[in-house]
Amino acid sequence: MEHGEEKKSPRQRMYEEVLEEATRLMKDETDLIAAMANVSALLKEKFNFWWVGFYRVQGKPKELVLGPFQGPPACTHIPYKRGVCGTAWEKQMTLIVPNVEEFPGHIACSLYSRSEIVVPVFDAQQKVRAVLDIDSDRLNTFDTLDKKYLEKICRLFKNLY
Ligand code: SME
Repeated sequence: MEHGEEKKSPRQRMYEEVLEEATRLMKDETDLIAAMANVSALLKEKFNFWWVGFYRVQGKPKELVLGPFQGPPACTHIPYKRGVCGTAWEKQMTLIVPNVEEFPGHIACSLYSRSEIVVPVFDAQQKVRAVLDIDSDRLNTFDTLDKKYLEKICRLFKNLY
């Protein structure tokens, strides 16, 4: 190992591969839904998470509406400030939930979801336009490594708005 180079965990390598692949897939992509569909598939394929998908900020009054996803059918409409997704939208920040049963107001789309991470998708004006939601059927699945790479992945969408 070179001096100053940190040893990468297998999970970090997997994220780097996903990031590289997502960057390649989105390079000439102009359609938001197509890009979200492929990124959901990439993450699901690589990590076999229970559920991976996007909710987009839509309508009047604004709410989160189910977008491209991989996994079992899920809740379709989530109001502002509700659940983990609506809270991440309100706070404009990534939320890591180690145990969904301990998150007040968590919306249970599936009885199998035990832990969750929600990452906002910002446009170029720094407005939240969507969230990426990933659910795991195990407790404590997500940490700051997931946050770091998923935020990088979500930044790829900025130019599609
Ligand atoms: N659990 C989320 C709802 C979306 S599903 O997990 C796919 C929430 O509390 O916002």
